[in-house]
Amino acid sequence: MTDLAKKRLLLGITGGVAAYKAAELVRLLVRAGVEVQVVMTQAACQFITPVTMQALSGRPVFTDLWDNRIDNGMAHIDFTRDVDAVVVAPASADFIAKLAHGLADDLLSTLCLARMCPLLVAPAMNKQMWENPATQRNAAQIRSDSITLLGPASGAQACGETGMGRMLEAEDLLAGIEAFFQPRLLPGRHVLITAGPTFEAIDAVRGITNSSSGKMGYAVARAAIESGAEVKLISGPTCLRPPAGAELVNVTSAQEMLKAVNEAVNWADIFIGVAAVADYYVLNPSEQKIKKDAHILTLELAPNPDIVSNVMNLPNPPFCVGFAAESENLYEYAEMKRRRKNLPLLAANLVQTAVGGDDNELVLFDDEGPHPLPRASKIVLARQLIAHIAKLYEKIPNGKAA
Ligand code: C5P
Repeated sequence: MTDLAKKRLLLGITGGVAAYKAAELVRLLVRAGVEVQVVMTQAACQFITPVTMQALSGRPVFTDLWDNRIDNGMAHIDFTRDVDAVVVAPASADFIAKLAHGLADDLLSTLCLARMCPLLVAPAMNKQMWENPATQRNAAQIRSDSITLLGPASGAQACGETGMGRMLEAEDLLAGIEAFFQPRLLPGRHVLITAGPTFEAIDAVRGITNSSSGKMGYAVARAAIESGAEVKLISGPTCLRPPAGAELVNVTSAQEMLKAVNEAVNWADIFIGVAAVADYYVLNPSEQKIKKDAHILTLELAPNPDIVSNVMNLPNPPFCVGFAAESENLYEYAEMKRRRKNLPLLAANLVQTAVGGDDNELVLFDDEGPHPLPRASKIVLARQLIAHIAKLYEKIPNGKAA
């Protein structure tokens, strides 16, 4: 379950080809434990049927201000009184114009005007329509009316053109809705994060690495963005899509990771080292692929720099958080590591529970002792970690750790 469990959302669908993505969004929301009430405009019903949305949401769908299923004729008022937010996805150019001007000529536009809860809209239109000064004026107007825009994204469009105006994919909309409900615990803070493994070349194709999917580090980056921070993510090789809003720097080796960290560290208020940095690199890696033969191959390994310790030893270091993956004696080894690296906070997990999966269990170690966080998805744990960091960070008199 995600943090959205038990939330109630009203999903408005307006007329656009992207209406098909609303079906997937409802599926994801329902799976996350959200109660979804769907309201569609007449134009939306040209693209996708209310029957589909009813089947997916498990609730009757409303399309008409004058629907006689509503006893008191007050659907436009009642529908938003017990929901946590209204989400309009897709939101057409016409619908955004209506919102900007306070028009209310159908059920969806009327309930948006009458609502007392937050409104999130996901624009979806052709790029010329999006870039038209009228749409840009309307989008700016609704932003300044405290309406949250999710997207749009850039890419191939149904009309055959390419550009800005595509609706976000359902998964990104879900992430945006979840992010909306997170507290802004680190507003404007600069957070530098390392994630993933490093890869130390042996020759042109082979190398030494650690098993790390990067999922925990990417989840920490996402949670930091949700908390209102600006995030730079320095990542070793992973197969993951970076969280929207993070500035990504891709690196391969530990030396490259250290260089990228050094370039960004003065900017950072908080440094979180989630990367599984390889402890050794190969001295004199071969530029060409080493030919296989029957002889024993000996590699000379030299220790890599410890990036977290390097940061911690700077004259004015950011608030530093380390990670530790242990295969046994988690409490003892993790606290020893925290003391050895002189870190105010270290998050530890067992290799057996952490690597590769979407769930994890963490124990946070600080000066007050261990704080176990029970098994949950990596994003839920990452949010708890960010909340803990924010609490400790607030106590530092001048913002920096030293
Ligand atoms: O010593 P160990 O590798 O177990 O410590 C883990 C912590 O130290 C993690 O935060 C990891 O990102 C960081 N680390 C580092 N540079 C290294 C090795 C580990 O920053 N060379």
